[in-house]
Amino acid sequence: MADSKMKRNPVVSTSSPLDDFNTHRLEVEAAISRVLESGVYIDGKETEAFEVELAEYIGAKHVISVNSGTDALSLSLRALGIGIGDEVITVSHTALATVAAIVATGATPVVIDVDPSTMTMDVHQVLNAVGEHTKAIMPVHLYGHPADMVDLEKIASVHGIPIVEDCAQAIGAEISGRRVGTIGHLGCFSFYPTKNLGAMGDGGAITTNDDHVASRLRRIKQYGWDAERIGQEFGVNSRMDEIQAAILRTKLNRLDQMNRARQQIAETYLTTLADSAASLPVTLPAHTHVYHLFVVQHEQRDSIRTALRSRGIGAGIHYATPAHLHPGYRQNVRVAHSDPKTFGLPITEKLARTVLSIPVHPGLSTSASMIANDVKEIIDSIN
Ligand SMILES: Cc1ncc(COP(=O)(O)O)c(C=O)c1O
Repeated sequence: MADSKMKRNPVVSTSSPLDDFNTHRLEVEAAISRVLESGVYIDGKETEAFEVELAEYIGAKHVISVNSGTDALSLSLRALGIGIGDEVITVSHTALATVAAIVATGATPVVIDVDPSTMTMDVHQVLNAVGEHTKAIMPVHLYGHPADMVDLEKIASVHGIPIVEDCAQAIGAEISGRRVGTIGHLGCFSFYPTKNLGAMGDGGAITTNDDHVASRLRRIKQYGWDAERIGQEFGVNSRMDEIQAAILRTKLNRLDQMNRARQQIAETYLTTLADSAASLPVTLPAHTHVYHLFVVQHEQRDSIRTALRSRGIGAGIHYATPAHLHPGYRQNVRVAHSDPKTFGLPITEKLARTVLSIPVHPGLSTSASMIANDVKEIIDSIN
């Protein structure tokens, strides 16, 4: 298509699980058949092998597969003994699941603001939020860029508070060669179909080097059973099924290649939009960004989004409502104020009005420069 203004049909969207399936079709179909023919659909060799392979990829001693990223987060907190009366410091500029997982344990999420350029936890605000009930800190590696773990590790170790990393959007991202999921006490991953490593259903995993926490997690993810199937504590059913594990194993083989494709598309956007009026995503030195989402910031976000839509480009908003402002969560979430005169979380609330996600999934590699030109033209004309 030579004319970049020509309307694309169907609309390009921020994610495409179908493109992902087509890229991996033969391996995925073979993996599904292998499981179907094995007659073992839960708790079999595929899940066991996936846990070993993912542990090797991330560089963690243990991987515990679970049913979703949300379960990974809430079970991690439970395995640390966190529940009613406790507090967990996190951000409000995140998927609602982060905060929902904390609420599910009975603990209170205490939310702090984010850094305006990385859009991840402003770790210097942690000090304003730590109190006698703080039992964990949950940074979110949002959009595929790691949160500021270097400073956070220092603060957490001074206060003796464990870090539970929300890695749902950042599998494969690194800080100085350390993969996310190995820096905190526990790392939590989601394999929701649109994620960089996506299942064809729900799935999640927890990484840790702590033997005690790992065995507790294995117990509470399955009714609280011990090896003799005696319920030693209250647990849930959060097993990954064999079909998802087999699919994830085949896709894990190509995860780095897929992340590189995302980085190349992002490079095209960064180059084309370098002089535009939008704020572009940053990658801190010694960090890698795996671009689960390519998120720009602009005051006229809604007009840009409408104009993009008319050219067949579906841009998304992650996230239009900060977690602490969702009606069903207001009473469960506490906002930590660094400055008593400031009400709310100013950066978080500004981002809710200005962020726009431009499609960056590997399936659109060939149209990246056309999309980049369209985005640039629209932003320029709006300015
Ligand atoms: C940052 C973040 N945390 C947690 C989750 C929850 O993952 P899941 O949808 O697998 O429960 C998601 C995904 O939606 C996410 O993006």
